[in-house]
Amino acid sequence: MTIKWDKRFSVNHLAIDAEHKLLLTTINALEIALRHPEDKEPLLFFIDQLHEFALSHFKHEEALQIKHQFPFVESNAKGHDYLIGELNRIRDDIRRIAKKATLSVTDMADLHNYVTYLAKDWLIAHLLKEDLKMKGFMGDGYE
Ligand SMILES: [Fe+2]
Repeated sequence: MTIKWDKRFSVNHLAIDAEHKLLLTTINALEIALRHPEDKEPLLFFIDQLHEFALSHFKHEEALQIKHQFPFVESNAKGHDYLIGELNRIRDDIRRIAKKATLSVTDMADLHNYVTYLAKDWLIAHLLKEDLKMKGFMGDGYE
């Protein structure tokens, strides 16, 4: 099931919200790719895209937090390190599974669990628990 952007996720900063939407859309693309497991290229493409977007987003977010003297910059950066570690682990395992000629029921379940985890815990839970603290700290929200 794809996830929809909700205004509850907004941190009142246009660029950060746009980057969060891009992460969410990329996870949705992964979910759609899983509907056609016989073609592994889209799955591999979107997990790499998610990795690339996440790295640049976290870097951008941390730079803006320092600029605006966001008080939770250190704990947010630690959260980002954890999220990248999780994403590396999941990307490695997706690559391992995608090398197989045919996917077992367990492989498919693992792939679905990864995408659900990325949507709910990796992105949404982090947005709601950590990133929402940025609300009100990030200037006029246009840079
Ligand atoms: Fe973020």
